[in-house]
Amino acid sequence: MILITGGAGYIGSHCALYLKKAGYDLVVLDNLSEGHQEALQTDNFCHVDLADISSLKEVFKKYPIKAVIHFAASCYVGESVSKPQKYYRNNVVNTLNLLDTMIESNVKNIVFSSTCATYGNPEYTPIDENHPQNPINTYGTTKLMIEKILEDYDRAYGLKYKTLRYFNAAGADNSRDIGESHNPETHLIPLILEIASGKREKIKIFGNDYDTPDGTCIRDYIHVNDLSSAHKLALEKLLAGSDSNFYNLGTGKGISVQEIINISEKVTGKTIKKEFAQRRPGDPPILFADNKKARLELNWTPEYNKIDDIISTAWNWEQNRKY
Ligand code: UFG
Repeated sequence: MILITGGAGYIGSHCALYLKKAGYDLVVLDNLSEGHQEALQTDNFCHVDLADISSLKEVFKKYPIKAVIHFAASCYVGESVSKPQKYYRNNVVNTLNLLDTMIESNVKNIVFSSTCATYGNPEYTPIDENHPQNPINTYGTTKLMIEKILEDYDRAYGLKYKTLRYFNAAGADNSRDIGESHNPETHLIPLILEIASGKREKIKIFGNDYDTPDGTCIRDYIHVNDLSSAHKLALEKLLAGSDSNFYNLGTGKGISVQEIINISEKVTGKTIKKEFAQRRPGDPPILFADNKKARLELNWTPEYNKIDDIISTAWNWEQNRKY
């Protein structure tokens, strides 16, 4: 059985669906602070907060867990800068609770959700896994701290990990049953699509004076189901006894905020009203992945290589949202 923490959240629920379709037995742990009951993919649901160590221990006693996929975290770059306390507690302290419970229960395989935000301002692009890690926001710092904790726990306790550094997760499963839904929404593509569907008036472009071709920030948008396939491959490697390692998950293509708006207009057939605003603190100008390592070592191939297709799946969800 595989434990998925944060399995009611956006990426966690997509990964749970993907693993369920592949025949895995799952147990999902979520405190439902950000996640959605409607997104759950299994009846084995534990409404538990990782801060609650005794309930966490009960989960490990109740289910025969072989490996953990750890999504549960606070993940807003902007909020992490204004509320660092929340991020250090929820991301770092609560992950320690999880890891200690795993060691105590002799569960020694974990797939960990890390982020390209651990790299900070790029010294070169595309960013490979050897790029220096100097995060410029608290969110990235918390994820880097956990990466270091995992290295130490492997050395000392033999905990094996596959750390996956996601670039910008986007899109939704074609079933239209699950999709991206944050409250409040802060992510670029869902905000733009809410404008297209008439729920919002306009998008603020955070900075148009970056050193990029059109002055707006560049990111690498990776389809959430492509993230899921990488998790399955990483999990299978761990279960087969493979060693600890870390991988970038991105398409390798950088797309600007302005380009996202243009393509969203094309996909939806609507005009997206926009205005230029101040830069958002903690935003690096350009982030896109060198994904060769994951392709070669995990045999991972992202299937969504066109941003139009990724936005189309998100638009499908936006028009049929269940939550
Ligand atoms: N942006 C705007 N206006 C908005 C919202 C976003 O211009 O209203 C811009 C941002 O400044 C950024 C880009 O759109 O340049 C993407 O922003 P998102 O908030 O959608 O995503 P982030 O890049 O900030 O963060 C995401 C995930 C993090 C992850 C990070 C890695 O939310 O968990 O990617 O870059 F760590």
